Amino acid sequence: MPDLSGKVAIVTGAGRGIGRSHALALAHAGAKLVVNDLGAGLAGEGSDPTPAEQVVEEIRAAGGKAVANGENVAEFDGAGRLVQQALDEFGRLDILVNNAGILRDRMLVNMTEDEWDAVVAVHLKGHFGPTRHAAAYWRERSKAGEEVRGRVVNTSSPSGVFGNIGQANYGAAKAGIAGFTLIVAQELQRYGVTVNCLAPNARTRMTEETFEMGAPEEGFDPLDPANVSAVVVALCADEAQGITGQVLHVWGGAVNVLRGWSAGELLEAPDGWAPDALLAELLGRFPDGAEPPGMIAGMQSAGGQSLQA
Ligand SMILES: NC(=O)c1ccc[n+]([C@@H]2O[C@H](COP(=O)([O-])OP(=O)(O)OC[C@H]3O[C@@H](n4cnc5c(N)ncnc54)[C@H](O)[C@@H]3O)[C@@H](O)[C@H]2O)c1
Repeated sequence: MPDLSGKVAIVTGAGRGIGRSHALALAHAGAKLVVNDLGAGLAGEGSDPTPAEQVVEEIRAAGGKAVANGENVAEFDGAGRLVQQALDEFGRLDILVNNAGILRDRMLVNMTEDEWDAVVAVHLKGHFGPTRHAAAYWRERSKAGEEVRGRVVNTSSPSGVFGNIGQANYGAAKAGIAGFTLIVAQELQRYGVTVNCLAPNARTRMTEETFEMGAPEEGFDPLDPANVSAVVVALCADEAQGITGQVLHVWGGAVNVLRGWSAGELLEAPDGWAPDALLAELLGRFPDGAEPPGMIAGMQSAGGQSLQA
C-alpha cells in the first residue's frame, strides 16, 4: 500500500458509489480527505448533505481525518470554494479526484437541450472548475520553489472512449474529459502535477438499474468499486510521478492503459485528393464499410466483459 500520509485529497461525488470508495481507500492509505458531494439524484436533481457526511463519519470512525463539502462541481466559484476548503482545513492540497457525475440518457433524436446541458455541465465543466483552481494553487507552490507532487485523477467512461448508444450527452462529455486529460497533463507537468483518467466499471446506483450484474456470493467481485480505487491510490503514490496523461480502463483486475486516437489507415495523394479519387480509395480500402464497433466490443477488447452478464 503506498503511504499517502501527510497528503490532502479532494474527491468529488464521494458520497456514494465509486467516489465513496476512492475516499475510503485514500484515507486508508493515510490521506486527509475533503469529501465533496452535492447529494443529487441520479439525474442531478436536488441536493442532500447526508451522503458526504456519512462518508466523513466512516473515515473518522476508522481513525482518519475528513471534512464534508456540499458544493456543486459544475459551478466554477463553488469549485473554487471546494479547493479553498482543503487549504483552510488542512493547509495544503495534493490530490484531486474528479468523479462526480449524473446521467440523463436519451436517444439523440429525443434529447432535450436541458438533458444535454446538465450532463455536460456536471461532467466536463465539473472537471474543469476544480482542476483549474487546484492548478492555480500548485503553480503558486511550484513558483515559490516547493517540490510539488500533485495528482489529478479524472473520470471518463467506456461510453466516452468507445461510444455507447443513447448517451450522446454523457459520452461526449466523457470523451471530452479524456481529451482534457491529455492537454492538462502536458500543461501541468512543469509544475510537478500528473493528470490521469479512469474509464471505470463498477456496480453503483448508476449502473445497477441498467445492467444485470449482481455481486457473486463468494470470491472476487470484478465490479466492486474498490477495484477502481486501487488504481487511484497507485497513481497517487510519489513513485508514480512519471506516469501522466494516461486513460486507464478498469474491469475488475484488468487495468488496460488505453491507446486513444492514434494514427490509422493513411490515404495519401502527393498533390491532394479529388473527391471522386478519394471516394474510390476509401471504398477500396474499406470494401465492407467502416463503422464503430460499439461500447461492449471496445470494453471486451480492453479486458472487460459484457455488462449483461
Ligand atoms: N459505475 C460505473 O460503472 C461507471 C462507469 C463509467 C463511468 N462512471 C463514472 O464514475 C463516476 C462515479 O459514478 P458512480 O457510478 O459512483 O455514480 P453515483 O451516482 O453512485 O455517484 C455519483 C455521485 O456524484 C454526486 N454528484 C452528482 N452531481 C454532482 C455535482 N454537480 N457536484 C457534486 N457532486 C455531484 C452524486 O450526488 C453522487 O453521490 C461518474 O463520473 C460516472 O460517470 C461510472
